[in-house]
Amino acid sequence: MAESAVRIYERVLELGAFGADGAGPGRYWRAPFTAAETSAVERVSEWMREGGLTPRRDAIGNLFGRVEGKNSGEKTVAAGSHLDSVRDGGRFDGPLGVVAALEAVGQLLAERGQPLRPVEVVSFTGEEGSRFPLGLLGSRVAAGLAAPETVRGLVDQDGTPLEAAARDVGLDPDDLASVRRDDLACFLEYHIEQGPILERAGLQLGVVETIVGLYHFHATVYGQADHAGTTPLHMRQDALLVAAEIVLALPELVRPSGGVVTVGQVEVLPGSANVVPGEVSFSIDLRHADGQVLSGLVEAIEAEARRLAAARGLRLAWQVTDATSPVPTDAALRARVQRNADRLGFTSRPMVSGAGHDAMAIASVCPVAMIFSPCLAGRSHRPDEHATPEMIAPGFEVLKATLGELAWG
Ligand code: HGY
Ligand code: MN
Ligand code: MN
Repeated sequence: MAESAVRIYERVLELGAFGADGAGPGRYWRAPFTAAETSAVERVSEWMREGGLTPRRDAIGNLFGRVEGKNSGEKTVAAGSHLDSVRDGGRFDGPLGVVAALEAVGQLLAERGQPLRPVEVVSFTGEEGSRFPLGLLGSRVAAGLAAPETVRGLVDQDGTPLEAAARDVGLDPDDLASVRRDDLACFLEYHIEQGPILERAGLQLGVVETIVGLYHFHATVYGQADHAGTTPLHMRQDALLVAAEIVLALPELVRPSGGVVTVGQVEVLPGSANVVPGEVSFSIDLRHADGQVLSGLVEAIEAEARRLAAARGLRLAWQVTDATSPVPTDAALRARVQRNADRLGFTSRPMVSGAGHDAMAIASVCPVAMIFSPCLAGRSHRPDEHATPEMIAPGFEVLKATLGELAWG
């Protein structure tokens, strides 16, 4: 058991070299449609070939390592995650699931020969939404949840259109219709928990019941730029003051529901120390595991933001840029994972995922299940994100056992 986990661990760290300076010297970021992502995909493709799988990249950049089944015409058993990261992120969020799935299929091939059903190890591109403003990019296109023209029209923070970035790395954004998958039997995703629950409880793995619903908003407060020295305080329309009031109000509105809300990006214009901010834009990430509560929060935070802007006579623009309802995993598939965890003697618990995952999009086309491993101090989306081989091993064994049942019978 430990040997497999060590190999997975070492491969995840090896992939971490691709993008080590993606956000600047020493700042890790593996963004989609970059040379770093292409290098990581090429490395995983080599490992796929070594393991007896046939690699293929689709028009949006999703990577699939396929093994045909003895029973032709059956739907494909899939497992994987993503290879892209957030800026200044960690090396395990995503790659753990891709590398562990590849290790499991490679071992099952070596031990049991050709599967009954086709099997694919998957890496979806652009899961994080850290470059283009739409998360779950590759899995949404594969599931038919993102319109090709919307995807092509996405623009990154530097003003680069997605279709140009995709073409630059040899992909074909004009052929997104071919990305659609309706041949999947099921999808398993192994992922670090990205939170402290498992490690604090001393549990070996988590079985995900629900993945939280998530809204992203882009808000802009319009005030008036003025000279910082000559404009009396009572004569200002300071956009940053209203933005700050809104940012401070959000947690107070959301806290009683048990949900979470985060402002991770703020832009102040014109952005000079001696000019009163005339325009302030900021992101809002809102999440809750209950769809109805989430809908109520969506309304409540917009109403409060509008009230605060009106109270100072400033205008507010409010745009929903992403909306995903909470996604339950498939009960039968989840039960199978739980049975294997119990049979193999691992300690586990059912969990809600506070993080979004590709499994949310793929759940719209086939049954999905997720397995969590603990991670050090629950840290994630930061450079010290880490999972040891001891943390990785139990979830890997359950992933392998479940894949073995689903594809080899
Ligand atoms: O934002 C998330 O929860 C995921 O990491 N994309
Ligand atoms: Mn992830
Ligand atoms: Mn992530």
